[in-house]
Amino acid sequence: MLEADARERIMVALDCDRERALELGDLLSGRARWVKIGMTLFYAEGPAIVRAFKERGFKVFLDLKFHDIPHQVKGAARSAALTGADLLTVHGLGAGDMLAAACEGAREAAEATGSERARVIAITVLTSMNAEALASIGVTDDIACEAQRLATLARERGVDGVVCSPQEAHAMRELLGEDALVVTPGVRPAGAALGDQSRVATPASAIAQGASHLVIGRPITGANDPVEAFEAIVSELVQTA
Ligand code: C5P
Repeated sequence: MLEADARERIMVALDCDRERALELGDLLSGRARWVKIGMTLFYAEGPAIVRAFKERGFKVFLDLKFHDIPHQVKGAARSAALTGADLLTVHGLGAGDMLAAACEGAREAAEATGSERARVIAITVLTSMNAEALASIGVTDDIACEAQRLATLARERGVDGVVCSPQEAHAMRELLGEDALVVTPGVRPAGAALGDQSRVATPASAIAQGASHLVIGRPITGANDPVEAFEAIVSELVQTA
């Protein structure tokens, strides 16, 4: 893989406070292309934190996992996209009309600003859920089957891809086709600490499985030298993916 492509594939998860997030932004500016801002940081800091990263030249994956009635989700996606975020998430479990509403909200924001439409990807089954948890809410199909059903529904309603574990990336790529975004967390460079992730893959193997983008947090943000850690992952992808 070319170096520029490798940089484009890594999304650095900023699960920290504003001060540390901006510090990491300064360190990784010009090297990393994407940051992921989740609920903890966004609910504390609001749209300003997205704009701060856009101003520093990053693309922003704003991971707020919408799940509400379609009208509300459309408004949420519109508002989220108006912050300048490039990628948004919505729960597949909200079903077809809600998924379509998220895409519509992103489209409205693009029309209002004349900028490119934020992409929308679906959460299928949270990796924190097991078969027992699914059964407790009345889903008796196995996890892979449920994830594939939700991914198919999302694709049919205009969603641009999915978030899934590296283990599911191959099946999702087959199901959704070449153009879909397949974004995988649970990525650990060889030898890195697992933290609370259990189903992990190395960056190169996640890409080989069909991932388009890798969400990587603590192996970069918790490293003594985040720049060195980030560049080591870029090198791994350049050499082996
Ligand atoms: O630090 P780490 O690399 O484990 O960060 C992974 C990021 O991906 C975190 O922001 C986490 O919330 C997110 N994530 C995950 N597993 C999922 C979905 C999202 O770890 N299934």
